[in-house]
Amino acid sequence: MLRKIDVGGVRYRVADEGVGPVLLLVHGFPLNHTMWRAQIEEFARTHRVIAPDLRGFGGTDGALYSVSMQQFADDLAELLEALAVEEPVIFCGLSMGGYIAWQFLQRHPSRVAKLVVSNTRAASDSPEAAANRLKMADIVLKEGPEPVAWAMMPKLFAQCTSDQCPRIIDEVRQMVMTSNPVAIAAAHRGMAVRPDVTGWLPEIRVPTLVICGEHDAISPAAEMQAFAGLIPGVNCVVIPNAGHMAPMEQPDLFNEAIRGFLG
Ligand code: MLT
Repeated sequence: MLRKIDVGGVRYRVADEGVGPVLLLVHGFPLNHTMWRAQIEEFARTHRVIAPDLRGFGGTDGALYSVSMQQFADDLAELLEALAVEEPVIFCGLSMGGYIAWQFLQRHPSRVAKLVVSNTRAASDSPEAAANRLKMADIVLKEGPEPVAWAMMPKLFAQCTSDQCPRIIDEVRQMVMTSNPVAIAAAHRGMAVRPDVTGWLPEIRVPTLVICGEHDAISPAAEMQAFAGLIPGVNCVVIPNAGHMAPMEQPDLFNEAIRGFLG
């Protein structure tokens, strides 16, 4: 079921399907909840799956000049409250959704039962990468999403996805191209100043699964395995034949990794 729900002056579009322990799926940049279609379908059989469009993205309004990862995390805590979710959730975030996951766990620890982070990073941006994001934010506001699509699309997929599943690439391009330029700029500005959480990872006390894409060019598997090693008792899985969009590229393997972790 797709719901519209007003929280703190923002009207969210949220997929809310199934009954059971809550699995919160948080999308990457600059996408929307439809990237999780295969996970929603699979896990709604056993869980209540909540997959929102983040502030400004997809069918959610409320874009600001800049949105920090902390703000997105607080937005999600408010959204869960509005959806009457009282028990701690399984928080699953991809890439920017992973940056938000770290902040959510730091700021709302009692709301998290288990953590899944996929295709993401713990480090902050280098000064050059941060400066590029700020430049790109200005460009997007003038020219629309095309320059972001041009910069990101070649880095998102494993070669076999390009060869065998062009439909997935079209779908992601469509998501990028229909994203609100104001939201894209705001998230770029927020990601540019996101904190480095590497030193905090040994303090994580919830069961954590780290999922890497074998050929991820944005969050390389080796870098993810290195930070995963800092998380006590972590489970770490590398999805073969997947790039940055592992849940869309290899949905069965991705779902199997989560199922195995949830037990
Ligand atoms: C994402 O997929 O959310 C982005 O690649 C994150 C980023 O730009 O660092």
